[in-house]
Amino acid sequence: MTTTWNRHHLLDLQSLSAGEIITLLDAAREFKGVGQREIKKVPALRGKTVINLFVENSTRTRISFELAALRLSADVINFDANVSSLKKGETLKDTVRNLEALNADFIILRHSASGAPHFLARFARSHVINAGDGSHEHPSQGLLDVFTIREHKPRPDGTLKGLKVSIIGDILFSRVARSDIWALTRLGAEVTLCGPSTLVPAHFERMGCRVTHRIEEALDGADVVNFLRIQQERQGSAMFPNIGEFASLFGLTQSRAKRLKPDCLIMHPGPINRGVELESELADGNQSVILEQVTNGLAVRMAILYLLNGAANGS
Ligand code: CP
Repeated sequence: MTTTWNRHHLLDLQSLSAGEIITLLDAAREFKGVGQREIKKVPALRGKTVINLFVENSTRTRISFELAALRLSADVINFDANVSSLKKGETLKDTVRNLEALNADFIILRHSASGAPHFLARFARSHVINAGDGSHEHPSQGLLDVFTIREHKPRPDGTLKGLKVSIIGDILFSRVARSDIWALTRLGAEVTLCGPSTLVPAHFERMGCRVTHRIEEALDGADVVNFLRIQQERQGSAMFPNIGEFASLFGLTQSRAKRLKPDCLIMHPGPINRGVELESELADGNQSVILEQVTNGLAVRMAILYLLNGAANGS
């Protein structure tokens, strides 16, 4: 089930079909092969200019998009918001219009405001890629997560049909959770969300997920457990008594990990709060694919840049 790619921007996963997601994942598989060659560079984006416009902190996503663009032979500019004219009151719209006046071909935006990339896409002629907007979506993370699961648990039709995936932690404020849920459910996985009721309200069931507030129910029988960080920077008020209580009720400990199937994958998008979402030994243990997620993110981001570059003027 592959689909011709004709989108101009990548703003979210909610609007992507299963066929479009599989097209991206299949392209990423090809680019992962490029990353294993001695010469890891291809000329696909030669002459193109990619601007990493990160107005919020990042390690993995920013460096991965930068490296992806370099591997495709693009010119890359890392915009430093802290020393930019945004600090003098210039608007995001004016900033992007100026970057486009310098012939930017891609704007990769991370922003604390949900919907900021969609706003840019209303006027930008360049390709806009959402690198994480507030608590809304983080499409490249969602794609690298399903890519990693698909590598370990392949199905003949490229989907994730019947796989049981539990997402545990702060769901309410997590853009990763939303992108993961859209991608996983599109590909046929059975998704369980787990955390305190303040962070995992029942209305998430409307996204096609099961909701539980008991971690044992999320661990038993799971093929994948994906632990998410508490997004304290996005929570306006305390959503649980303290971090120690959260860890004691919802953290993955050695004792709780005994409930996992031996081939269950342990995932985390990073950054990890060791000892909160999961114990260090488990983050670094043999069921963990956390660093594989990072490796796969590079291939996924190469695929995103490559497919957008070749796209006709779609949405
Ligand atoms: N997973 C992720 O988005 O990490 P960064 O915030 O470091 O980019």
